[in-house]
Amino acid sequence: MQRLVTARMSDLDIHSERLLVLDFGSQYTQLIARRVREAGVYCEIHPFDMSNAQVRDYAPRGIILSGGPESAIATTSPRVPAAVFELQVPVLGICYGMQVMAAQLGGEVEGGHEREFGYAQVEITDPCPLFAGLNDSDSTPPQLDAWMSHGDRVTRLPQGFSAIGSSANAPLAAMADAGRHYYGVQFHPEVTQTRQGAEILRRFCVDVCKCGQLWTAQNIIDDSIAHVRDLVGSDKVLLGLSGGVDSSVVAALLARAIGEQLTCVFVDTGLLRHGEGDQVMETFAEHMGVNVIRVDAGQRFYAALKGVIDPEEKRKIIGGMFIDVFDEQAHAIQDVKWLAQGTIYPDVIESAGAKTGKAKVIKSHHNVGGLPEKMHLKLVEPLRELFKDEVRRIGVSLGLPEEMVQRHPFPGPGLGVRIIGEVKEEYAEILRLADHILISELHAHNLYNQVSQAFAVFLPVKSVGVMGDGRRHDWVIALRSVDTIDFMTAHWSRLPYDFLELVSRRIINEIEGVSRVTYDISSKPPATIEWE
Ligand code: XMP
Repeated sequence: MQRLVTARMSDLDIHSERLLVLDFGSQYTQLIARRVREAGVYCEIHPFDMSNAQVRDYAPRGIILSGGPESAIATTSPRVPAAVFELQVPVLGICYGMQVMAAQLGGEVEGGHEREFGYAQVEITDPCPLFAGLNDSDSTPPQLDAWMSHGDRVTRLPQGFSAIGSSANAPLAAMADAGRHYYGVQFHPEVTQTRQGAEILRRFCVDVCKCGQLWTAQNIIDDSIAHVRDLVGSDKVLLGLSGGVDSSVVAALLARAIGEQLTCVFVDTGLLRHGEGDQVMETFAEHMGVNVIRVDAGQRFYAALKGVIDPEEKRKIIGGMFIDVFDEQAHAIQDVKWLAQGTIYPDVIESAGAKTGKAKVIKSHHNVGGLPEKMHLKLVEPLRELFKDEVRRIGVSLGLPEEMVQRHPFPGPGLGVRIIGEVKEEYAEILRLADHILISELHAHNLYNQVSQAFAVFLPVKSVGVMGDGRRHDWVIALRSVDTIDFMTAHWSRLPYDFLELVSRRIINEIEGVSRVTYDISSKPPATIEWE
């Protein structure tokens, strides 16, 4: 078996025809990588200051230079490693990436021109392999609806380059050196506002860099299964199932890869969403035949949280208690060697950034951090290379219910950070019901998949209301819904008033103890998505 697996992997190495995305600090860098992957091509994001040796070792078939916040005019601004232009592979510079490429190859970049932000028409002045046949306006010459965000612009092309596109504020909005297969675009093809952006990136990856489209859901699954089998052999593996998307997909993948060797522990903290525990058991234990141990630990969590109001303190208690409960169960299972975790690629990029001081400090998450050392377990993280949308796609291919796979993110400490101040069972019950009403109405009105994250928050404030002839003083529920690309910045969702009215009416009428519902209209920043 072992030999077969190894032979299969060497037949098809789905990482072999890959691109390198060099990150110059744009908020869209992860989007570039996601679009490349959607084109069926594997790529990794690395910081712009990776060494020349690292660039060569990575052996990319092509390189994309991201945008970034700095000015290419400043002599101290980030530069492209020399190896990029020595490898003789295609290069695509986007925004700052185009400018820095132009500056380094002998062209000129100027600042002080009118800033161009938002939609712009880019006239295609040379069809070139990236633009041929594209036209958003049926005009001659053809035009692209593109998304711009720049102050500086290229004013003189480096030798060997010619202009392939122009816009009102950037006469040299796109450039190409057909001989070396170097391209630069001032606009952002990775954002959906640039209508042909995904196609332009696909052409770069597939037509220009000649990468095979090996990065498909089925190939990723086959490759991960082979890799996991290779890694763990006949050892036993333990997984903490949370009901969230990532751990659910890990469970489905490992069930396929190693079957009986997998045991999942599902801790019901009493801080989960409505029906979550039953759904986890139904999907995994009943339908997929996975070994799942369910622990109903709600009372222990409520007891540990009694009287605690500080959010970070609450997070620590919930995380610590989770590890204790998990550890107790795990000890009952003999001979476990591996702990599986649902770490995904953005976590890997973020923690790499945190080490180099490039990423913001994130709130203490309650993964099963600390467990591997405590239990002397080795880690298996089969989703480490995947973006969330890829995790979702393979989840569906593995047969998980769409509803489970498309769920909005849910924080590790669960309802614990959505009950403001002290956590009590009675508050958790009210919040669970209110949240369920909001979520089911979003589904019923086809709004759930249009917003990025929606939930209810329990406010321990007594507010006056009238019910029939009497007055009552009851609790307040806040509704929160946000639209975001990366959860770093977010806008509150413009949900229809009628919809909000319906949800509010249902919550107040159907849940005893709630007299008022509010809708949170704060964006991030300055507010955060969660209330604590
Ligand atoms: P904030 O509130 O920081 O949230 O704007 C950004 C995203 O992170 C989630 N979040 C958490 N996830 N443990 C988690 O696992 C946490 O302590 C935590 N706090 C926030 C939040 O739900 C949103 O998706």
